[in-house]
Amino acid sequence: MTSVTVRVPAKVNLQLSVGPPRDDGYHDLVNVFHAVSLFDEVTASDDLAARPGDAPAVVSGGCSVTVAVEGESADQVPLDGGNLAVRAALALAARAGRPPGVRLLIRKTIPVAGGMAGGSADAAAALVACDALWGLGLAREDLMDIAADLGSDVPFALLGCTAVGTGRGERLVPVEVTGRFHWVFALAEGGLSTAKVYSECDRMREANGEQVGWSQAGETLMAALAAGDAEALGGALVNDLQPAALMLCRPLARTLEAGREQGALGALVSGSGPTCAFLAGSADQAAALAMALEVAGVCRSVVTAYGPVPGAAIIPARP
Ligand code: C5P
Repeated sequence: MTSVTVRVPAKVNLQLSVGPPRDDGYHDLVNVFHAVSLFDEVTASDDLAARPGDAPAVVSGGCSVTVAVEGESADQVPLDGGNLAVRAALALAARAGRPPGVRLLIRKTIPVAGGMAGGSADAAAALVACDALWGLGLAREDLMDIAADLGSDVPFALLGCTAVGTGRGERLVPVEVTGRFHWVFALAEGGLSTAKVYSECDRMREANGEQVGWSQAGETLMAALAAGDAEALGGALVNDLQPAALMLCRPLARTLEAGREQGALGALVSGSGPTCAFLAGSADQAAALAMALEVAGVCRSVVTAYGPVPGAAIIPARP
């Protein structure tokens, strides 16, 4: 039996500028992605023997994929063709001449439907793990192409670090960052549907008669990243989806306020939410802020992390 394990980070959006809806239903974005040290792990194994409690395998074109999920909100992750990691394995198999199959084990730490691209991260990890397991050796650009077809955030989960995404977020240019930024994430009860948050954003803009202009990566934001200046970065964080996320999940306003009151340098909803992200000036300040948010009781749980960190990468087998 052979297996390959890949570790893959969550992301927070430092800037998420959303254009008007396109004909294909997506929105053009200026999306400054930042990978943080909150990791899922995906193990791909060629041991296809059925185990008690297994979900039925998803079979397509002769390739069979079984998936099991452990950890953070594992019961909310689909085990059928709706699982993006399963779709990733099948897409790679189709590209590679359909190997016999794979068993995927996903160990979750990234919140499910939390606005931190956990599903996309698992898909990116599955691509890297299956590529290695099946000995395909595909070029990174080929994996990036497959990733972009799977979802807007999947290419960034392969790349990691910090990058500006345009188009629907899949066209990436890496950004130079000095040093390390310290984050606190407040995880919410339940998740939010990304598609619903985008629709709510469109609805609110229309109701308010808001004109949406052309956007680019903010100069202050880019300068703060280059200088490693957490205070300047905190003031430059932007998320156009935040009003929509707050409309769909009202308690988040209180969560953000609590973080600001406790001295966060910046506070925003992560992507389409409902996770809230807070920037701190140091690891110690992040730990103190996390404790204060726990005590305030304004969220389900709190985690600290730092960024940037690299994208999906194989980790050595455990003894
Ligand atoms: O690409 P992904 O499957 O992650 O997107 C999920 C949903 O989010 C899309 O179906 C779409 O409704 C919305 N979306 C969007 N514009 C983007 C990215 C996502 O409208 N640039």
